[in-house]
Order: sequence, then C-alpha cells, then structure tokens
Amino acid sequence: MKRFNGKVVLITGAVGGLGSEQCRVFAEEGASVAVNYLDIGNFAEEAAKLVHSLKENYGGDHQCYSADITDEDAVKNMIKIIHSHFGKIDVLVNNAGISINAVSWEISAENWSKVLAVNLTGTLYCSKAVLPGMRERRYGRIICLSSVVGLSGARGTVAYAASKAALIGMSKTMAREVANRGITVNCVAPGYIDAGIMSDVPDKFKTETVLPSIPMGRLGEATDIARAVAFLASDDAKYITGEVLRVDGGHSM
Ligand SMILES: NC(=O)c1ccc[n+]([C@@H]2O[C@H](COP(=O)([O-])OP(=O)(O)OC[C@H]3O[C@@H](n4cnc5c(N)ncnc54)[C@H](O)[C@@H]3O)[C@@H](O)[C@H]2O)c1
Repeated sequence: MKRFNGKVVLITGAVGGLGSEQCRVFAEEGASVAVNYLDIGNFAEEAAKLVHSLKENYGGDHQCYSADITDEDAVKNMIKIIHSHFGKIDVLVNNAGISINAVSWEISAENWSKVLAVNLTGTLYCSKAVLPGMRERRYGRIICLSSVVGLSGARGTVAYAASKAALIGMSKTMAREVANRGITVNCVAPGYIDAGIMSDVPDKFKTETVLPSIPMGRLGEATDIARAVAFLASDDAKYITGEVLRVDGGHSM
C-alpha cells in the first residue's frame, strides 16, 4: 500500500523546477495529481508532457489545469472542475511563486504588487477555494512553499522576502482556524535549491556567496523539497500543524 493511494493532490505552478518533482513524488507514492499551470509560453505543452510522463511511469489518473492563481474566479473555476473530475482535493501544495529582485529603495510599486499578488494573494485564493470541501470532509493538508529568505531576509529580495514571511503568518492563522476539522496547514522553507528560480542566479554568485553560507556545502536538490512536502502531506505528520520546516542544508540555523 503506497502512502498516497486514493488521495488527490493539487500542486500549483507545477510545471516549474520544484513543482514537477513534487508531482513525480506524489504520483510515485500512489496519488492522483492535479497539475496547475499558468498558460503562458510553452507551459500548456509542458504540463501535458508532465501528465503524460506521470501516467506512463506510475499509472493512475493525473490531469492538468490552466489557471492564473492571481485571478480568484479562475481559481474557483479550476477547483470546481477538479472536484467534478476527482470528487475531492485532499492535499493542496501552494507551490507557484515568482521573484523580482530589487533592493528596498528601488522596488517599483508595480513589481512589489506583482510578487505579492502571486506569492501571497494567489496562495490565499487557492487555499480559500479548497477549504470548504476539506472542512466538509474533515480532512485536508495544505502545504505552502515559503523560503528561508522569508525567515532571514536576503539582500535585493524585498518583495519576495515580504511575501514569503507573510505566508508563514497566513498559514499559522489558517492552521488555527481549521485544526478542529482534521486539516493541517504547514510551510516548507527551502534554502537554495539547484532548480527553478535558482537557475537564473549567476554561477559566480552561487559559488562565492551562496555556497559558503550553507554548512552542508552544496545546493539542495528538488527532491529534497518534494520529500519534505510529501512528509507534511502524509499521515506521519498528522499531528503537525502551523509548522515551518526548513530544508536548507543548515543555512538558516
Ligand atoms: N528554487 C529555489 O531555490 C527556491 C527556494 C525557496 C523557495 N522556493 C519556492 O518554491 C516554489 C517553486 O519555485 P521553483 O524554484 O520551482 O520556481 P519556478 O519558477 O520553476 O516555478 C514556479 C512556478 O510558478 C508558476 N506561476 C507563476 N505565476 C503563476 C500564476 N499567477 N499562476 C499559476 N502559476 C504561476 C510558474 O509558471 C512556474 O511554473 C516557489 O514558491 C518559490 O518561491 C524556491
């Protein structure tokens, strides 16, 4: 018996570096995965490829759904369609996120709003939309991708850091609100992971600044994050809520 047999897991922004590995881990462990993606560039094609590979490698029913999580109506519609296909959502992973780098005295109002809209408000919309079903069924797991940057700050990331710190307060509040309904809400705070948004970081910055700040002396792997997310979604973590699990090779201890 696999850990997530019979469970339906929705992962937002699932086509990215960390999201696609989460899809793989949940599918490998028996879940049906609902892959959310933002329909820009070639993401529709990438989402379809991802779903195809999950079906080929692990079997089961996996589907992809386009929705911009900053659009509350689009989110509600996506959740409705997922419910009509799978009948429920057991696990929501609020993975979608963006970063626009700027120091605090230079960030534009527009870029500040863009980052907050995806990382914080989009996460609220998705959580808001799944909670009624979870409350009714008295079961649910919500995991939000925060960041060590939200705990410690990092130069040039003022909007990103603010959004990731705010997610922690929001998750703890939701955790308190739904704890009596069998629902847990937790955050994973990745450190520097060799995938996704870190791919744009110049190698010189990685070797000279990032690596010396990590006691384990290396960047994390996407699977390190996916395994932590899966742990928080599993029954092994059923008495853990309102927690922030740092997965950062010791960077922020
Ligand atoms: N990679 C790292 O080192 C790292 C470290 C700390 C935290 N994180 C967090 O992990 C999460 C995944 O990041 P990643 O590294 O895989 O980055 P990524 O850029 O590869 O993936 C992010 C995904 O979010 C999607 N997205 C953006 N705006 C969206 C919207 N409006 N609606 C729906 N989807 C949207 C993107 O299309 C993309 O697929 C993010 O929340 C990120 O902040 C990553």
